[in-house]
Amino acid sequence: MKKVLVLYSSVRGHTARVSRRICESIDAAGGSADMMEVTEAVHEGVDWGRYDVVVLGAPVIYGNYDKAFMEFVRRHKAELDSKPNSFFNLSVVARTPAKATVEGNRYMQKFLQLSPWKPKDLKVIAGKVNYPAWRWYDVIMIQLIMKMTQGPTDRHTVIDYTDWADVDAYGRHVLELA
Ligand SMILES: Cc1cc2nc3c(=O)[nH]c(=O)nc-3n(C[C@H](O)[C@H](O)[C@H](O)COP(=O)(O)O)c2cc1C
Repeated sequence: MKKVLVLYSSVRGHTARVSRRICESIDAAGGSADMMEVTEAVHEGVDWGRYDVVVLGAPVIYGNYDKAFMEFVRRHKAELDSKPNSFFNLSVVARTPAKATVEGNRYMQKFLQLSPWKPKDLKVIAGKVNYPAWRWYDVIMIQLIMKMTQGPTDRHTVIDYTDWADVDAYGRHVLELA
């Protein structure tokens, strides 16, 4: 049975939910998947030899990726390169079709520029707007960003832009990379 490791970072939990769904889809397709948050991977280590495919995922936060996540990618370039691998990002700009492609999503392009690890496979996933769950200053900042990008600005808004059927398909796809 092919084994997949999904390593992720998540600020408010949505990337964790997406990672879990990827794992469920892999299990349902006859593979076996483990998920691990990057902090755990940094401190507890990763048994790379157990896995046939490694998938990494991270949300975009103010145009950037979590520092610890990027540091992990830098430190483990050799292990990542040694296996079939894939990278996915989550952003709310990806709610529009033009920005939901690898070429059209500037944050994906930014990752490819910043990361010494060049993933063999890429996926852009639309994230979640969850104003009630965000800190007040994040709400104000994101309302400004949304105003500029014609997105929702009402501070009560909760919209899950993730296409879950597409996440299931991505899970099956990464299993086939093995
Ligand atoms: C503080 C904060 C900053 C964000 N900055 C951006 C951004 O610059 N561009 C974007 O498209 N989405 C941005 N988002 C949206 C997140 O990428 C989206 O909500 C994602 O689902 C968050 O995943 P998480 O819950 O795993 O952290 C931001 C969200 C938060 C909370």
